[in-house]
Amino acid sequence: MTGKLLITGASGKLGSAVVHHLLDSFKVPASSLIAGSRDTGKLSELASRGVETRRVDFDDQASLTEALAGADRVLIVSTDAIDASGTRLRQHLAAVEAAKKAGVGRIFYTSMPSPDDSLITFAPDHLGTEEAIKASGLSYTIFRNGWYMENLFMVLPTALASGQWYSSSGDGKLAHIARDDIARAIAAGLAAPAAENATYTLTGETAHTTEEIAALTSEITGKPLTVVHVTDEQLAQGMAGAGVPAPYIPTFVSFDANTREGKISMITSDAASLSGKELMSLESFLEASKAALAG
Ligand SMILES: NC(=O)c1ccc[n+]([C@@H]2O[C@H](COP(=O)([O-])OP(=O)(O)OC[C@H]3O[C@@H](n4cnc5c(N)ncnc54)[C@H](OP(=O)(O)O)[C@@H]3O)[C@@H](O)[C@H]2O)c1
Repeated sequence: MTGKLLITGASGKLGSAVVHHLLDSFKVPASSLIAGSRDTGKLSELASRGVETRRVDFDDQASLTEALAGADRVLIVSTDAIDASGTRLRQHLAAVEAAKKAGVGRIFYTSMPSPDDSLITFAPDHLGTEEAIKASGLSYTIFRNGWYMENLFMVLPTALASGQWYSSSGDGKLAHIARDDIARAIAAGLAAPAAENATYTLTGETAHTTEEIAALTSEITGKPLTVVHVTDEQLAQGMAGAGVPAPYIPTFVSFDANTREGKISMITSDAASLSGKELMSLESFLEASKAALAG
């Protein structure tokens, strides 16, 4: 690896894991990395390992310019502004524009699977960012990150407590992947010299229906769990009744609708090929998480 690599969002769960894999799994020298975050105070452990830290906030143009100064490449970690207000696309476009002005040699970006054919409410944020990256004329690598196994923590603890998992995903399949496997694959892609533009879709190796995930969870935790199949409208009503903030309900419902329509059923070998390591299975993830899931 030549030149300095800026990783934005380095205090986040994915960004932090990427930096740690660069250092520990791929033995990239700390001196070649710049860890960026809105709060550099959260990067003290990386700083103690010799990684330069810089403040970077996509809502603050000056911070982007300063963070990118002298950077040869940048990994833009997508932000968590998923409320469909347009904030996230604006943030990402600011980061791409700043990278272009700084003249970086390559942009890396964390996207989502099939953003051009998706029911997910925030898919346009990723599609718009990918398009801006391609239009920038810079070399690029896009990592289309599949759904984390960790996302199951949003639903399984409550579902296990009641024994019922309300879902509108029908028989749709989804190949979850552990967040750390994504981080390792991205780090591998960052550590290896890249000549061509590339788009990778990082998924798990096996796709499951919601019924299959429920059955596995039940078997592993020893707790009964039944999937209650509902419509999108019923799911939305249930979320509202459970106190889910209104702006997020369409997004959460769109996850199930997208799965039901088969738009996230793809399985690729990209993650394992990039990182050269076997991926964690859903069974292993659930086994390792069973105490936390079952409460
Ligand atoms: N594939 C999936 O299943 C899945 C699930 C959840 C999220 N995601 C996406 O993947 C990203 C990383 O996931 P994660 O698990 O690491 O989530 P996370 O821990 O919630 O991280 C949120 C990230 O957003 C960054 N961020 C927020 N506002 C920002 C701003 N104004 N400027 C620059 N960066 C900003 C944060 O950086 P700092 O705090 O360091 O500034 C942090 O890296 C998320 O932000 C989201 O876009 C994907």
